[in-house]
Amino acid sequence: MSDDFKAAAARAAMAEVKTGMRLGLGTGSTAKHFVDLVGAEVKRGLDVLCVPTSEATAAQARALGIRLSTLDETPELDLTVDGADEVGPGLALIKGAGGALLREKIVAAASKRMVVIADASKKVDVLGRFPLSIEVNPFGAAVTFKAIWTVVHQFSGEGPVGFRMRGQERFLTDGGHQIVDASFGRIPDPEALSTALLEIAGVVQHGLFIGLCQRAYIAGPSGIEVLDAGDPVR
Ligand code: A5P
Repeated sequence: MSDDFKAAAARAAMAEVKTGMRLGLGTGSTAKHFVDLVGAEVKRGLDVLCVPTSEATAAQARALGIRLSTLDETPELDLTVDGADEVGPGLALIKGAGGALLREKIVAAASKRMVVIADASKKVDVLGRFPLSIEVNPFGAAVTFKAIWTVVHQFSGEGPVGFRMRGQERFLTDGGHQIVDASFGRIPDPEALSTALLEIAGVVQHGLFIGLCQRAYIAGPSGIEVLDAGDPVR
């Protein structure tokens, strides 16, 4: 069911895609639907140039015949469409469950417009129920982990806090970094938490997306809800 809603949100976002656009392609199970739809339209003649946010999305897009570029070649994008783990007030987001948060944030920041697509379970009144992904440099990761713990404690986080694992090994991002997942329970002040995390030397980036997303298409049993960043806080 939730996959049908993900697909519906992706279909709604296709209304924003016009021929000639430079597009950022997100990562994850919802973004995958969007990439499939872009691929289908490309076969019907849509002309877009796309920058993928992960190796997985790049492989999917390539297989669909979507023309790909990099941010070095195409540093300014018209639109990025991506999924999210949580969509909070003001369209602040938690992202990163797929481990692509760094590239996702770089691509979103290089886009004139970022649109999020999600099923209704992702919409929250306060961010933080979903664990926050924090990308760290492998060098001195134990020291960075300790510093993250201190910040979690300062922000009254519930924990647990732990390195993301893949089997017996630590999960590695496309950029060769590790991920610490930190459960806060509630993040009432995402800006303050963002600042505190980025002050830790070994933190490469975190999954709080603040002020980056302009619109969300949220699909649920009653249809598509369209939220804009400027809407009154819900
Ligand atoms: C990838 O790193 C993530 O930011 C995803 O965009 C996010 O986790 C949403 O994924 P799903 O669409 O699979 O829920």
